Amino acid sequence: ANNLLQGINIFLIGMMGSGKTTTGKRLAEHLNYRFFDTDTLIKQVKQKTISDIFVEEGEESFRILESNVLSELASCTRSVIATGGGIVLKQENWSYLHHGLIIWLDTSIPILKKRLNHDLSSRPLIQKEKLDIELELLLKQRHALYKQGDLKIIVDKNDSSEDVVNKILKLIP
Ligand code: S3P
Repeated sequence: ANNLLQGINIFLIGMMGSGKTTTGKRLAEHLNYRFFDTDTLIKQVKQKTISDIFVEEGEESFRILESNVLSELASCTRSVIATGGGIVLKQENWSYLHHGLIIWLDTSIPILKKRLNHDLSSRPLIQKEKLDIELELLLKQRHALYKQGDLKIIVDKNDSSEDVVNKILKLIP
């Protein structure tokens, strides 16, 4: 894989719950790349949870932090970067994303719903009681943006992160 990639970064984009972090870690191991996660870096910079940043500083402030973190990551090489689900919203972020290969983990609403039911504590944009409608709304708003990625990987119901990594490796032989 490294021959074709020539050390360029891989950015994973997609909805929350699509598995960017778990898949990204595994992919990085396979490629002998470093792994970064924009949400984790933001938490480290602010010494706060993502939910606290949303509540105390607001979404726009979070989006600015997210762009700053992404812009710094754009200058590294040989890295897999898992991004937050909303990274595609800001036009300027695309100029950073295009420093690497952008892979969209396309995951259907039923799969997202099942996964997110277990772990909504770190997802301030979604309330449990409104999981269905909020996910559908977010995906509707973002679908055309995610499609702007370079490659699309369809995540199936029973796919493990290993399966998803294998799908990616098939496309970047
Ligand atoms: C968000 C997704 C989250 C996190 C924040 C906002 C979004 O990341 O950045 O809660 O707008 O979709 P994950 O996609 O890693 O859950």
